[in-house]
Order: sequence, then structure tokens, then C-alpha cells
Amino acid sequence: MKILVIGSGGREHAIIRKLKESRHQPEIFCAPGNGGIAADATCVAINAIDVEGIVNFAKENAMDWVFVTPDDPLAAGMVDALNEAGIKTFGPRKLAAEIESSKVFSKNMMKQFGIPTASYEVFTDPAKAMEYVESNGQFPIVIKADGLALGKGVIIANSLEEAKDGIHEIMEDKIFGESGSQIVVEEFLTGPEVSVLAFVDGETVKPMVSSMDHKRALDGDKGLNTGGMGTIAPNPFYTEEVARQCMETIFLPTVKAMNELGRSFSGCLYFGLMLTPKGPYVIEYNCRFGDPETQVVMELLDSDLVDIMDAIWNKKLADCPVSFRNGAAACVIIASGGYPKSYKKGCAINGLDEKGQYEGLSIYHAGTKLEQGKFLTSGGRVLGVTARGADLREALDKAYDAVEHIGFENSFYRKDIGTKCFK
Ligand code: AMP
Ligand code: GLY
Repeated sequence: MKILVIGSGGREHAIIRKLKESRHQPEIFCAPGNGGIAADATCVAINAIDVEGIVNFAKENAMDWVFVTPDDPLAAGMVDALNEAGIKTFGPRKLAAEIESSKVFSKNMMKQFGIPTASYEVFTDPAKAMEYVESNGQFPIVIKADGLALGKGVIIANSLEEAKDGIHEIMEDKIFGESGSQIVVEEFLTGPEVSVLAFVDGETVKPMVSSMDHKRALDGDKGLNTGGMGTIAPNPFYTEEVARQCMETIFLPTVKAMNELGRSFSGCLYFGLMLTPKGPYVIEYNCRFGDPETQVVMELLDSDLVDIMDAIWNKKLADCPVSFRNGAAACVIIASGGYPKSYKKGCAINGLDEKGQYEGLSIYHAGTKLEQGKFLTSGGRVLGVTARGADLREALDKAYDAVEHIGFENSFYRKDIGTKCFK
């Protein structure tokens, strides 16, 4: 069995290492991959958004499966193109991927089907948006670019001035590009955040172990929004009662709504939730595995991932066991100084063995490359140091012990991953 995984981050590395454990013993390829992934898969130099290049490679090299992981190729219809070429895939088709790639679509869907989400208005005219925030007069208020923006298209404005600046930056300066030609302005919600990734085959929803992301760059949730600086799983705020409520009011209604809209969802659906005083609300959907949520979730997944892919493809997820290990997992991201703004690349990474790993835990590589046997930095988020333990304390201790021994020029990491869970 040959599987091609699309992407080049820590999330893809975690998926690949999980696929390697499968009883089907697949041969794994990754396009384009990175320095650390090269130790676990054959890296192929094709861009993750090159739909034609990927389809041709998959056909010419007889791939049995293509696992399309990142948002851009999913939004561009890579799954549709591969299926048309007769290749099995993991991931949603283009129309279903819009649940992430258009916030206007997903907000309107939630409203239509009564799925709890912050109240909102949509604007295509910056003047009208400014008028609205002024007459609404409630702050903070949340401003979101409609389209994909590397997970960064959200501005939380604490005053009218900040809101006006935000609207100007997104709609007129186009800091997130064309994804900002439409915006959603929404009510500010409060409460603990939970990420729930779920396997979905169009009918059945099997949620994975819950997790918690840490999106801001600095300790105490300060600094700029990033792709994610660390994760823990399970999320202690996500109790059995909350899980039951989410299944009933959010997960099943979402899958049903997508079917009714002719956008049946297949793959991994990511629910970004906020546990508000009024109950669980949807903050955002992603049409894919989260990064770095995947790192902790794969660390705890006990079932065979290839069996799950197969069950989803055959719409038999209901009959396929999806189980998780007891205990907890933690992932601490080591990033390049300056991230999420500009940073230096090409710095030598210290503390890893020749396979880019560290004894006793998993190092999931993101922005790394391998040159003459040495691991060098090549991105903002560089490594996800990921450990498992009998409980969260043990997992965090293991991860942080390793983090102290790994680094490079100007590297930094958050020292407070998971601490909210102990308060
Ligand atoms: P998103 O990219 O939609 O996940 O938003 C990024 C982050 O902004 C979320 O993880 C939340 O912390 C925050 N956020 C987004 N929408 C809201 C909202 N309506 N109320 C409060 N915080 C929000
Ligand atoms: N960690 C959040 C995301 O993958 O979008």
C-alpha cells in the first residue's frame, strides 16, 4: 500500500508517524515534507497546492491513497481532482471544504440550522461595517476576514478606534489579501476554548480526544496570534456532559446541515469551540486536522489510522473502532525568534539525534530542512516536542525536560503550555 501525504508541517509529521504504525505497513510519501519527515517518508518536491502536479505524481507512481492535509489544497479542490483520476483520498471535497474557506458560508449555515455561534453581520462595504460597529457600540467586538488567512484573519477590537483600524486593514489595506474583501463582524464570547477534531464519513461523527491550543506567541496569552504555540490533550474543560451537549447541538447538526446543503463532509472536521456561560458555541470550523492539535491527538490515538481512512472512504465509520489511550499528551512548539513576524532561517538545531528525534518522546518537525546530515531551521514554527504521560503533569514535565536541551539561535517557546488546566 502506498500513501501520499500532502503538506510539510508538524501535523503532517504526526500523521505520517501514526500511519507508519499501521498493520497495513504502508509505504509513505510526502509532498513536499521537511527535514524531519524525510526520516519517516520519501519526500517528493511538489508544492502542496500544485493540484495537477500531485495528481500526476499519484497516477504515475500508483498511490493507493492521498491524504490531503492543509487547507489550501482542500479549498482548491485537490480531493475532487484526485477522485476524478480514480485515486482514494482522505479529506473533504471542495464544496465541503468551504466550511473553513468561507466564514460567511459557515456562519450563514449555523444561523440557518440553529447551531450555536456568536451573532454576526456580514459586510462587503467598509463604510457600512464602520457604521455598524459605531452604532452597535459594544466592545470588544470581533472582526474576521471571510477567507483563508493562515489562521490569522481575526481581529479582536477593544474600542471603536481599534475596530475601525481593523476594518480598514482587512478591507482596504488587504493585510490578509483577497480573503478580506468580505468580513464577518461578530459578538465577543467568553469561556474556555476547546478544539475537537472528529472523523466524519458524511453520516457518522466520531470525535477524537479533545485538546487545547495556545494561539498567542507569548506566555499568558500575550503577543500576536500564531498558528499555535502548543497543545495539550485531553482538554479538562471538555467534560462528558459537555461532550454530550456538543454532539447533540453542534456535531450531528453540522454534518446533517452539510448534507442538506449538498456538501456532504468526509475527512476530519475540526470544531473550534468556546464553552460560554450559555453553553458550547462554535468559534470556527476547520475542514482538516489542526496544527498543533494533531500532534497530541495522534500521540493518543490507539486505533489503526489506515483502517479509519478505509472506513470513512467506504462510509462505514459507524462500524470502525476509534479509541484513545488513557493518560495525556502535551506538545510544546519551539519557534524562531521573531515569529509570527519575520525571523531568520538556516540556523543549526542542537540537541536532536541523527533522525531528528529525542529519546523518550516524539519530535514532530515543522520548519526544518536537512543539509549534509544537519537539521537547520526553515520556518517560524520549527519543532513540536510532544510527550505522553500518565497524566498532564507528567506529559508536560517530559516535554519541557526535552525542550530545555533542544534549541538554535534565537529559538523561543512558551513556558506556560497547559497551565490553565491546573487552576
Ligand atoms: P479563529 O481563527 O476563528 O479560530 O479565531 C482565532 C481566535 O480568536 C480564537 O481562538 C479565539 O480565541 C478568538 N475568537 C474568535 N472569535 C471569537 C469570538 N466571537 N469571541 C471571542 N473570541 C473569539
Ligand atoms: N491550531 C489551529 C489550526 O490548525 O487552525
